[in-house]
Amino acid sequence: MSTASARPLSLCATALALCGLLHSAAHAQTIALDVPYVPTPEPVVARMLEMANVSPDDYVVDLGSGDGRIAISAVKDRGAKAAYGIDLNPQRIEEAEANAQQAGVADKVVFEQGDLFKKDIADADVLTMYLLNTVNMRLRPVILDTLKPGTRVVSHAFSMDDWEPDRSDIVEGARIYLWIVPAKVAGNWEIDSEGETFNVDLQQSFQEITGVTQHQERLRGRLNGTELRLEIDGKLYVGQVNGDRIEPISAEGAVPGWSARRS
Ligand SMILES: C[S@@+](CC[C@H](N)C(=O)[O-])C[C@H]1O[C@@H](n2cnc3c(N)ncnc32)[C@H](O)[C@@H]1O
Repeated sequence: MSTASARPLSLCATALALCGLLHSAAHAQTIALDVPYVPTPEPVVARMLEMANVSPDDYVVDLGSGDGRIAISAVKDRGAKAAYGIDLNPQRIEEAEANAQQAGVADKVVFEQGDLFKKDIADADVLTMYLLNTVNMRLRPVILDTLKPGTRVVSHAFSMDDWEPDRSDIVEGARIYLWIVPAKVAGNWEIDSEGETFNVDLQQSFQEITGVTQHQERLRGRLNGTELRLEIDGKLYVGQVNGDRIEPISAEGAVPGWSARRS
């Protein structure tokens, strides 16, 4: 896959940039927004929430929530248990609260006026954003270091540079990116498998894993949140990462009954 940042800007992204110039000028003396207000079209909202597989178990957080449409739709159309939106502009918060009332979801959706960079987002199961590449890149370390592994992050139009999305799609000319926050697996692991114990050393670049065995054989792997797939010596190991432990997940063609511990 080519790097996301090398792709031409979509129509929505270009519109956002142009609006930014006008809008920033209009609000320059009032609120210093990091991103101008441009609403996400409803079909794009629907696809973002579908790609994130929003379900009744989820708490959805929209950073820079505008008129509230993403948070409201997460609850109303996807049945999310709760949603939260934050926006620096108080006018947007007023609109979003009125829209939540009108949609009948005001009891499950909270909007707050504030700076998205100051918000603790660790509780999110799904994080949604229609911001800018530069803003996404400021958020990237927070996303990787504070969100639970497995949290789904969806962005309209803007990428996160060399963190490749797990999926992307185009709806009405707008690109949508989905990332699954990967567990952290770098380090030395002791694997017990089929009555033997051996060590592997793993390196991690986002969801991509490389490494070597104790015999210096190269290995590769990939994370989907907490699910790790490793190919070692022609054998497939699929496991669930839980801190410093990995327990096997049954999968077609995978080695059964193994476990791993980070040393
Ligand atoms: C492109 S709009 C997206 C609105 C909404 N999420 C949507 O997709 O329809 C970006 C929003 O971010 C808000 N915003 C800009 N800088 C912000 C900041 N530092 N903290 C919180 N909100 C901010 C703007 O007021 C605007 O409503």
